Amino acid sequence: MLGITGGIAAYKAAELARLLVKGGAEVQVVMTAAARQFIAPLTLQAITGRPVRDTLFDPQHEAAMGHIELARWAEAIVVAPATADFMAQAAHGMAPDLLATLCLATEAPLLLAPAMNQAMWRNAATRTNTETLRARGVSLVGPAAGEQACGDIGPGRMIEPAEVLQALSDMLSGDSLAGRRVLLTAGPTREAIDPVRFLGNRSSGKMGFALARALVGQGADVTLVSGPVALETPDRVRRVDVETALQMRSAVFDALPGADIFIACAAVADFRPGQAAASKIKKTQEVMTLTLVRNPDILTEVAASSPRPFCVGFAAETDDVEAYADAKRRSKGIDMIAANRVGESLAFEADDNALLVLWEGGRRELAMQSKSSLATALVALITERFDAQTAT
Ligand code: C5P
Repeated sequence: MLGITGGIAAYKAAELARLLVKGGAEVQVVMTAAARQFIAPLTLQAITGRPVRDTLFDPQHEAAMGHIELARWAEAIVVAPATADFMAQAAHGMAPDLLATLCLATEAPLLLAPAMNQAMWRNAATRTNTETLRARGVSLVGPAAGEQACGDIGPGRMIEPAEVLQALSDMLSGDSLAGRRVLLTAGPTREAIDPVRFLGNRSSGKMGFALARALVGQGADVTLVSGPVALETPDRVRRVDVETALQMRSAVFDALPGADIFIACAAVADFRPGQAAASKIKKTQEVMTLTLVRNPDILTEVAASSPRPFCVGFAAETDDVEAYADAKRRSKGIDMIAANRVGESLAFEADDNALLVLWEGGRRELAMQSKSSLATALVALITERFDAQTAT
């Protein structure tokens, strides 16, 4: 959640929103009434793809996602710029508007990027409020010193958006997988029919890329073997691009030595055309028959290798999710399976998903949420089971 309060630096919030979206975050902007004097909500809506929220008592919004739900939805709240007035409210637990209420109601970590006139920043009241907030675990980044919009020179300028983003990622990261090597697959595969056509599937790769991001956030050394997707490589992730299932298998086995954890998130084609035509197939006949041959099951092969990493697979099922997923976990010989119900608009291509995670002797349901927060929860669970297994 990106909170914007009323200061001239509010224009920098647009760039911050853009960087957050580019980095894979889902961003809900919440503005104060004063912020609207400095930057138009429409600008932020266009950047984030979500309508800006700005009123506490809005029946329409409250019916869709009330302010308490919104406070729970946020994995982190960044207020940039944070004015002296906003910091005073936060320090005193006041909730006069939607943003201040959310900051009071949330359990998510809070990051403030103060921006104000240098005299306001130096004022004893602001100094005390800053100390109070810090003591309660609120993170502050900036302000920077320099020339101010009012002509003064001194501390009070909002820190640049890229630095706010860095502070946010530092605040959210952990080290539960420091020193661990994780290999994962993501996206679809493409199986060539001829030089211009292929068999593919609807996998977007979003879940696998969100996992890669969550894994590096916990300090893991991550190699991501990806089929063709339209996604940017997360920072610090080693990406290997492949097209076919056979290429994916060989890239996986090349990267496998030394891997502690293998997560098979890719939607690998089960079959490929037996022989791709050397030149473009012409439409001379009314009926065309393709002969398909089975692709190797990459996950089963990795699970059967020795030494083998902790293996996690996915299962997309339409019904009897738990029974089929558990059978799949056993037949593939893997440690953990994350199952999702598919059909209608669920799972593939969507931004939200829910998972049922099964392992020997245990299960956990991860409720419907964004793929990025789902990835964070799944990485925490994988780490927990991996640690339990390596401890024995
Ligand atoms: O058997 P099914 O395709 O439903 O299993 C899905 C799981 O197996 C996923 O984790 C997927 O990444 C993995 N898989 C694989 N190689 C295949 C087929 C599936 O690694 N050829």
